[in-house]
Amino acid sequence: METEIKWAKRDAAASNAGDSPAHDYVWPDEGCSRIPFWVYTDEEIYRREQERIFRGPNWSYVALECEIPNPGDFKRSFVGDLPIVVVRDTDGSVNAFSNSCAHRGVAFCQSEHGNAKSFTCPYHHWSYDLKGNVTGLPFRRGYKGKGGMPADFDLKQHRAQPLVVSVRNGAIFASFDATVESFDAYLGPKLLTYFDRVFDGRKLELLGYMRQRIDGNWKFMFENLKDPYHASLLHVFFVTFGLFRMDAESAIEMDETGRHGAMINRRGGKLDEVAAHEMRQTLRSDMQLKDTRVLDLIREYPGDVTAVMCTIWPNLIIQQQSNTLAMRHLVPRGPGSHDLHWTFFGYADDTPEMRAHRIRQANLMGPAGFVSVDDSEVMVMSQEGVTPYNDRAGVAEMAGRTVEDHDHTVTEVAVRGLYQHYRKVMGL
Ligand SMILES: [Fe+2]
Repeated sequence: METEIKWAKRDAAASNAGDSPAHDYVWPDEGCSRIPFWVYTDEEIYRREQERIFRGPNWSYVALECEIPNPGDFKRSFVGDLPIVVVRDTDGSVNAFSNSCAHRGVAFCQSEHGNAKSFTCPYHHWSYDLKGNVTGLPFRRGYKGKGGMPADFDLKQHRAQPLVVSVRNGAIFASFDATVESFDAYLGPKLLTYFDRVFDGRKLELLGYMRQRIDGNWKFMFENLKDPYHASLLHVFFVTFGLFRMDAESAIEMDETGRHGAMINRRGGKLDEVAAHEMRQTLRSDMQLKDTRVLDLIREYPGDVTAVMCTIWPNLIIQQQSNTLAMRHLVPRGPGSHDLHWTFFGYADDTPEMRAHRIRQANLMGPAGFVSVDDSEVMVMSQEGVTPYNDRAGVAEMAGRTVEDHDHTVTEVAVRGLYQHYRKVMGL
């Protein structure tokens, strides 16, 4: 049963009763070019997101295949804030089920990774097979004729909640809602092309993890990768060392719904004077790199694009900046906080030099990355500013008020695309 939430505007009587919240859950008339701040702060909105988005018919990223190569290999993961287990079955297929014991709800898998023939809950030792079925429980028949489960207790009626799983070229996605469309249809042709550009069928190699908790709403992170406007202003490293600039050749592309997006950039070219003036606070002539290898670009994909950041609704950012590749997995932690799980990877056929280069270039990213440290900092400031002013709304009008692809990055169009979709899903 869904919680009854009053989504319509509260009537005057209720407002006058003095129990009305700081907002009325009514989206501003301007539409998707406005983002009411209560989407980042409100408990009821957060609950509804978990219900409709993360338990809904969407494909959430949960793991890479190269993290669980062998039968019995497992990884503890999340869909929204819901803990799950992703495991390689004996036949090579991938299963996912809730990390919540069928008995009393314990998150029975506490190891981040491992190999197992079965899982046993630490509390009452209920055991599970690699599909999440309950296979046994101690004292089921009682002891010396006393106690035990009722005679009609049926093990088959009890299991960890299963998720449907889709694997594409090494990346694993899962959904609690079995009615979800096929992964290809879900991504749509444009985003599928960008997905397959990095996940081209070559075997992947796990390079390492980084994790951080950011005291800002999870959507701040998701929309950050749909917002190229900030990239040339906030990120001193990008602009000063030329990895991403507003005057470079670039584009923003989306799927039909606006939920997924690709931020595309080609580094290099002569710095444009007008753009340089706009970015003057970010361009730092006093900064130099002692080791410039972190900037090196080894061409590895067709075409001359050097960075494609994909946002795959609802919880994944695929990072390809020069040669650093990572899955950024968003795990909401209440309205005001989220965890970001970074999984850096390369290809199994990388040369030792390429592997070393990818690991070195990973210094751009992560919690203390030369570039991405700025984003984590600014998201905490965002939460600080929206929380006490949650009767206000943000403005996303850069390059218009509508939603369509753009062949430049002086735009907030993909942020509008996101909230156009969000409103539909959330019934706002
Ligand atoms: Fe950024």
